[in-house]
Amino acid sequence: MKAVRLGVNIDHVATLRQARGGAEPEPVVAAGLVELAGADGITIHLREDRRHIIDRDVRLLRETVQTSLNLEMACSEEIIAIALDVKPDQVSLVPEKREELTTEGGLDVAGSLERTTDVVARLKDGGIHVSLFVDADPEQVRASAQSGAQAIELHTGPYANARGERAVREHLCQLADAAALAVGEGMRAYAGHGLNYVNTRPVVDIPEIEELNIGHSIIARAVFVGLERAVREMKAIIDG
Ligand code: PXP
Repeated sequence: MKAVRLGVNIDHVATLRQARGGAEPEPVVAAGLVELAGADGITIHLREDRRHIIDRDVRLLRETVQTSLNLEMACSEEIIAIALDVKPDQVSLVPEKREELTTEGGLDVAGSLERTTDVVARLKDGGIHVSLFVDADPEQVRASAQSGAQAIELHTGPYANARGERAVREHLCQLADAAALAVGEGMRAYAGHGLNYVNTRPVVDIPEIEELNIGHSIIARAVFVGLERAVREMKAIIDG
């Protein structure tokens, strides 16, 4: 049976801290507990407006994370410079709009191929593994391969939001086709966004998917059952 890695997005821990502008809860502590519970990686999004994760979190987590640190970021020169300095294990390039509540759609790699290719090359030159967050759209998957990225993370938001058996099945098929295409093009296939304790298993069953990034559902459950148990329960679903 294949092992699918779980990256836990801890942005919401930082959101709670920022709500009071103080020191707690501390994302570094959250990351340690998440790792102790068996997660395979820590994911954080350093947004341009610093609404949750802030620069010191990125630097401290680079020092403390024992598994793998995945930095989600927009193609902004300021954040690229931080990534090249801090050197997370992986960068996931995402689109970013200031007014959005969370990442809304995938990157338009096809429409920004020159720029994306340049940013991917610079990050790869810095020794960072680069993944592009894209919709399950063949045009975007092919463009991602052309950009030189080593991986794509398929946007599972539309699947998570789909209602009705048929719509859910259609979204799963699109994800499976896109994952197979990505691997055929020489990339690795990851997935994330909107995944929870109910809808994650069918995504794990897509043979090419090897990593999931999950945040909101795990942190939401952690409020009631604690972070370690919330991670362990998600790990159990993924490991079957
Ligand atoms: N993957 C990417 C690229 C994201 O931007 C996010 C949200 O920050 C996630 C995964 C996690 O999404 P969720 O919080 O809905 O699990």
